Amino acid sequence: MAFADYQNEIYLDGLRGVLPNLPMTSDELEPLAEAAMAPAVRSYVAGGAGNEHTQRANITAFEQWGLIPRMMVSPTQRDLSVDLFGMHLPTPLLMAPVGVVGLCAQDGHGDLATARAAARTGVPMIASTLTVDPMEQVAAEFGDTPGFFQLYTPSDREVAESLIHRAEAAGFKAIVVTLDTWIPGWRPGDLAASNFPQLRGHCLTNYTSDPVFRSRLAKAPEDDPAATVMHWAKIFGNPLTWDDLPWLRSITNLPLILKGICHPDDVRRAKDGGVDGVYCSNHGGRQANGGLPALNALPEVVEAADGLPVLFDSGVRTGADVIKALALGATAVGVGRPYLYGLTLAGADGVVHVLRSLLAEADLLMAVDGYPTLADLTPDALRRLS
Ligand SMILES: Cc1cc2nc3c(=O)[nH]c(=O)nc-3n(C[C@H](O)[C@H](O)[C@H](O)COP(=O)(O)O)c2cc1C
Repeated sequence: MAFADYQNEIYLDGLRGVLPNLPMTSDELEPLAEAAMAPAVRSYVAGGAGNEHTQRANITAFEQWGLIPRMMVSPTQRDLSVDLFGMHLPTPLLMAPVGVVGLCAQDGHGDLATARAAARTGVPMIASTLTVDPMEQVAAEFGDTPGFFQLYTPSDREVAESLIHRAEAAGFKAIVVTLDTWIPGWRPGDLAASNFPQLRGHCLTNYTSDPVFRSRLAKAPEDDPAATVMHWAKIFGNPLTWDDLPWLRSITNLPLILKGICHPDDVRRAKDGGVDGVYCSNHGGRQANGGLPALNALPEVVEAADGLPVLFDSGVRTGADVIKALALGATAVGVGRPYLYGLTLAGADGVVHVLRSLLAEADLLMAVDGYPTLADLTPDALRRLS
């Protein structure tokens, strides 16, 4: 089935009086989802660093590019599949790692719902270290879709190694190490409400279920939650340097991807250190304000990667955004906040709706604009608005 068929389904449903029960755009989903979130979750999801200029610029950066339509191609079939780390994926989308995804679902088990949506769509979930349900239970919901595990590297190396080895045993197919969050960025929205979910004990299950983490505590997490959170806070952030890369590389034979890379020199150092991919992202503008939109960093990252896979996220809101990021050289594109909106409003069905809508729009753009495969989407397909 072509991704574009989602529109046929919707139009045909309309003939028997059935309309979509969720809005069709991320812009319309966002306020509805935010209204349905608990205030602490809303502030954490919506908020960015500083005055949120970079967060907004991530989104508007896509408007600086336009796709040139090509005629007399009329591709009746399009191929959006991607080969990544030895896997053949049906779509170029990924679900970006989101720490509070568990809290977004109305039943408090959003990680499991997201994993079920991954199983239904073939879009891999990059599961955060910060989940409500332990990674083993999340992985058990993936079906035939591969899952990736995102590591926030604890400063206690043995805990880090234990988390990675559990991810391997649980069947995750790649490890994404996030580099930009060894210290939380300045987030006025969360500060105003003094809101940091993890310090309130949320989303720490991968730690509290970890035998090495538990061995560091005087009392079991169940018996002394406050001391557990304090120990977590002590080891959460690891100020990694390039000297740590050989160690990270040595822990696992799974594909290793470094997330948060925006400078071409960092790409080269990562490549020299033997990583399997880099992930160009500015964390959705949540970590450092005053930066370039991530999309503007992408072309130089792709050039420096020189054939190494480049994952990308930050600001992707439409199928057109997906196509533009691919044309600028991304191998695969991460969707962040939009899938949270679907999850908040309708659980796994909501995530599936968001992903299918993005894919249908992307697929139809390739049809209308005459680009049959992702290989046809090159920078030459785009022009920059002057
Ligand atoms: C609420 C929230 C929590 C996040 N948690 C994580 C996380 O646990 N690990 C991580 O690597 N990135 C995390 N991110 C960043 C996302 O992976 C991604 O880079 C970002 O959402 C992209 O920006 P966008 O959602 O505005 O498109 C989080 C983002 C949001 C919105």
